[in-house]
Amino acid sequence: MLPWFRDELASRVDADPVAVQAARGYRSGTQLKCERMDTPRNLQAGAFAGTAEAYLRYRPPYPKALLASLVAQAHLPGSAVLLDLACGPGRVTLDIAASFEHVHAIDLEAEMIEAGRREAARRGVRNVEWRVGRAEEASIAAESVDLITIGEAFHRLDQVAIIEKALDWLKPGGSIAILGTYSILAGGEAWKEAVRAVARHWMTRAFPAGWADARAGAAVGPDAFKRLLIGASFMDVEVRSFAEPRDWTFDEIVGYLRSTSVCSEGALGDLFSGFEAGLKDALRPAEGHLFHEQLRCGFTMGRKQTDPHP
Ligand SMILES: C[S@@+](CC[C@H](N)C(=O)[O-])C[C@H]1O[C@@H](n2cnc3c(N)ncnc32)[C@H](O)[C@@H]1O
Repeated sequence: MLPWFRDELASRVDADPVAVQAARGYRSGTQLKCERMDTPRNLQAGAFAGTAEAYLRYRPPYPKALLASLVAQAHLPGSAVLLDLACGPGRVTLDIAASFEHVHAIDLEAEMIEAGRREAARRGVRNVEWRVGRAEEASIAAESVDLITIGEAFHRLDQVAIIEKALDWLKPGGSIAILGTYSILAGGEAWKEAVRAVARHWMTRAFPAGWADARAGAAVGPDAFKRLLIGASFMDVEVRSFAEPRDWTFDEIVGYLRSTSVCSEGALGDLFSGFEAGLKDALRPAEGHLFHEQLRCGFTMGRKQTDPHP
């Protein structure tokens, strides 16, 4: 199974998330809040503290073909409603808002929502209602939503609660789509392997109790999401994959890493400058040199039944 729905945590693809989860006790005195001592720091509230600007600037947009396919597959009515859960600064929200009359965009982090609001104003997108809060506790009217999107975040959520709520929030025939991309830390190209080795070195120091790919017991990856949606009675469940070439400058690579929950300045703290120097040594960026990748991404999508008792 390809781990392309993991975000930055793909750096730890060889780790057993359950084993990491079991490693208890987290470094105290970090700027990150502690929710539960058995939740790895990178999955706690505050894991993205200080990343919103880098997130907006350096996370590559989802490919246009992916978003167009997702919207087409949703078979939207005339005045459709979108609910984007764990929206961050609006990477999904803002690129598809024009297909909807109204958009609810919800994220745990006030800083992400503020960045999303600013970006929406900059782009002249006016139909988004931004809310700070847990996706699992979102207050959304029953049968009011045509499409729910969750981009690179489902592994962070209480998936059972989200699926149950989604079945309530969606109109009959409405859809849910779980999006993901392979991150720079997922390896693959040789330069990514180098980045990954440097990241692992500094993360091991910054996260002495370990980090995890996903919440314990969470479904991770398109096949697992597909099984989950089918098991929850969604119809027409499909996985779609996409790839597009992308070139990165060294500064963009560092910017991207600043936007992650494991290599940001908040996550690495005083170690960040050593990390950045390590990246420079490993990648030896020359003036004008670009690092090439095939950006791979996709979504798993299913439709709520129109008749609950067919
Ligand atoms: C990797 S970002 C994804 C942002 C955006 N969806 C995208 O596709 O780029 C993960 C986001 O999930 C948010 N998040 C994590 N747990 C959450 C929860 N329980 N409810 C709402 N948002 C949550 C984080 O604050 C962060 O902004």
